[in-house]
Amino acid sequence: MKLRLSVALATSALLAFAGLAIAQQPTIIKFSHVVAVDTPKGKGAEYFKKLAEERTKGRVKVEVYPNSQLFKDGEEMEALQLGSVQMLAPSVAKFGPLGVREFEVFDLPYIFDSFEELHKVTEGPVGKTLFKKLESKGVTGLAFWDNGFKDFSANKPIKVPADYKGLKLRIQSSKVLGDEIKALGAIPQVMAFSEVYQALQTGVVDGTENPPSNFYTQKMHEVQKYLALTDHGVIEYAVIVNKKFWDGLPADIRTALEGAMKDATKYANDIAKKENDDALEAVRKSGKTQIITLTADEKAQMKKALVSVHKENESRVGKEILAEVYKDTGFKP
Ligand code: LMR
Repeated sequence: MKLRLSVALATSALLAFAGLAIAQQPTIIKFSHVVAVDTPKGKGAEYFKKLAEERTKGRVKVEVYPNSQLFKDGEEMEALQLGSVQMLAPSVAKFGPLGVREFEVFDLPYIFDSFEELHKVTEGPVGKTLFKKLESKGVTGLAFWDNGFKDFSANKPIKVPADYKGLKLRIQSSKVLGDEIKALGAIPQVMAFSEVYQALQTGVVDGTENPPSNFYTQKMHEVQKYLALTDHGVIEYAVIVNKKFWDGLPADIRTALEGAMKDATKYANDIAKKENDDALEAVRKSGKTQIITLTADEKAQMKKALVSVHKENESRVGKEILAEVYKDTGFKP
């Protein structure tokens, strides 16, 4: 009798212990992205991890997977929808395959002159409208993160549209970007970010576009002789989560994570410009890539050649959204 009682007691103690251990398992957030750690997005992701883990006192663990370790672009959206990864920060050029083409409004050439103009859009009604469109896809938009202004690179000096004729240029999977390249008389080639270095090295493509932080950290300066400071567009990110996962979190945890994201967003956006300025300086110092500063006339020629991309994509990005962005930025087509 005594033995049975003590076995029963021991069993229930064991079960209680196991139950406690299960209850204390932290919730894991896998945060996958394609760029290097030493970039605005890479650092933003690490900072979010730090804040999220501190503020939830270990109830949440954020596993950050940089450099396409977990998924390449082109694979990550589906992985998010399936719940194989909980958080991503893809560039806005990569939302077309999700069926939300309106994000490509950010890809329109020369639509932003400054981060201030960009923030008017991301933090205003357009940002909200875009995030609303994600809900039916099982995705929740949390924040917009900046990288910076894009420059074109190639192995020949590129200053005016005529210099781009016939070049094969790697782009992200955005129709707007494809039209941009065609407007320069060049040939667009969609390719995953992780494959760009090798494609440039082997001559599969002749050139590409990206902000200096990506150009430098992917070592593209080793395989591109010229970088033209065209500032013709931006790389902007949307930090997104699997909606079912997010909605299923305990309310206090979600609130803590929202706070962590708010502060990580401020951090990432505050460092973005300096990260790119420093990366450009590092490219210059490497002596491997010649940096070309365009004259006002050369810049005007680029703008003139590229502005047609706006009208061409009006219905793709949405007439109302485009009008709203023009209102925010003062851009006149
Ligand atoms: C690219 O694919 O060119 C970049 O946008 C990657 C990134 O996330 O910055």
